[in-house]
Amino acid sequence: MDPLHNELDPNSLGARDLKSLLHPSTNLGQIAAEGPVVQARAEGVYVYDEDGRQVLEGMAGLWCTAIGFGEDELADVAREQMKKLSYAHLFGGKTNEASIALAEKILEMVPMPASRVFFGLSGSDANDTQIKLMWYYHNLIGKPERKKIISRIQGYHGTTVAAGSLTGLAPFHAHFDLPIPNILHTDSPHYYRLAEDGETEDQFTDRLAANLDAMIQAEGPDTVAAFIAEPVMGAGGVVVPPDGYYEKMQAVLDRYGIFFIDDEVITGFGRTGQPFGAQTFDIRPTTMSIAKALSSAYLPISGVIVPEFMVDAFRAASPEVGNFAHGFTYSGHPVCSAVALRNLELIEERGVFDHAARMSVPFQERLRRLGDHPLVGNTRGVGLIGAFELVADKQTKKPFDKAVAAGAHLMQRAFEAGLVVRALGDSIAICPPLVISETQIDELFSKIDIALAQTAEHVVRAA
Ligand SMILES: Cc1ncc(COP(=O)(O)O)c(C=O)c1O
Repeated sequence: MDPLHNELDPNSLGARDLKSLLHPSTNLGQIAAEGPVVQARAEGVYVYDEDGRQVLEGMAGLWCTAIGFGEDELADVAREQMKKLSYAHLFGGKTNEASIALAEKILEMVPMPASRVFFGLSGSDANDTQIKLMWYYHNLIGKPERKKIISRIQGYHGTTVAAGSLTGLAPFHAHFDLPIPNILHTDSPHYYRLAEDGETEDQFTDRLAANLDAMIQAEGPDTVAAFIAEPVMGAGGVVVPPDGYYEKMQAVLDRYGIFFIDDEVITGFGRTGQPFGAQTFDIRPTTMSIAKALSSAYLPISGVIVPEFMVDAFRAASPEVGNFAHGFTYSGHPVCSAVALRNLELIEERGVFDHAARMSVPFQERLRRLGDHPLVGNTRGVGLIGAFELVADKQTKKPFDKAVAAGAHLMQRAFEAGLVVRALGDSIAICPPLVISETQIDELFSKIDIALAQTAEHVVRAA
């Protein structure tokens, strides 16, 4: 029995939650003791609790609500599509206008030689699809030994069996018997934490590219199918790689004909100041995963974008293999597709990419200024995503003792001040809806200032 059961009104949402839900990515002991945080409604960049208390959603939910909450137009489109064709699938050659129109729109937007879009429901299933397509393609072209996928330590690509294996964060593997075979992890490009003493950014990225090369050599270049990366690591702590990193990594991959899977689940659709992270960081993707801002999270939908040469191989094999035997009941769901399409149109009509790029200037400026605070060892960010890292000693970069829980404390104080941020250890992530205004950016950072001041008192008490 959860300890809170007896204290809470049994009809309250908190009590009912504790008796009914198994929460994802949640400390189950803590929620049992403290109860859940109930969200009642949301509008624009703000969420509200049951008592109407307003909180600025500085994380756009889970890095996803690009256009903000409560858009009537998207509700209207969902309603119309539900009345017209509430469900249709793409199996066995069936199709529907909403899926086609969305795929056309995506192909128009992505900065890569793109041929087709395969729809799913989540970033995880998109990345599972990526792995399966890499395996399928190499089997079909007679290179069945090319099976390994190189991901990165600290990368986050989801939590299903395969995507969870790509994720390079220990808690997502421990006790789940992951990773599966054929998934490798190379270095994280976290310069602040992982550079050696005196190492310049250039030397650091040279070393990482050399390590990638050595890994490929050790594994056997003909056994490696693809490398997967988020242009900016999100859940791993908002890791923005140093200039030149992707150019050097991509040169190594090109040397061995290894594909680049570009996981744009967070960075896609305006987050980094350009439409896609690939543009901000000069990445040349072979394939791409998209989700989150694709529909601004109004409905679940993801996509895997594939080039012509892969589709050609799939098509050419059909006399022999029969069906392309992969897909989901909800691949190309017409309601999700219609809503995602309208979301992308609204983003275009309202100039949201340009707005986000403009807002990134005051956002990044305020973020950098946090670096003056005695508790902040590092700030990093690009576009409208960023993080600052709390440290016990700025000179030595010494982290706080785990027991101090500095990051968790700051997150809680920020929430009390009316702001959602996310503590990834002692790195505090910020990723507001792309429609945030300059005044709201001021509000966001004023609340962080309050939370930082309170955290400074906390760490002294906890010392
Ligand atoms: C870069 C990246 N890839 C994949 C995923 C997994 O997406 P989902 O939670 O929709 O499965 C996430 C989720 O945060 C992500 O940040």
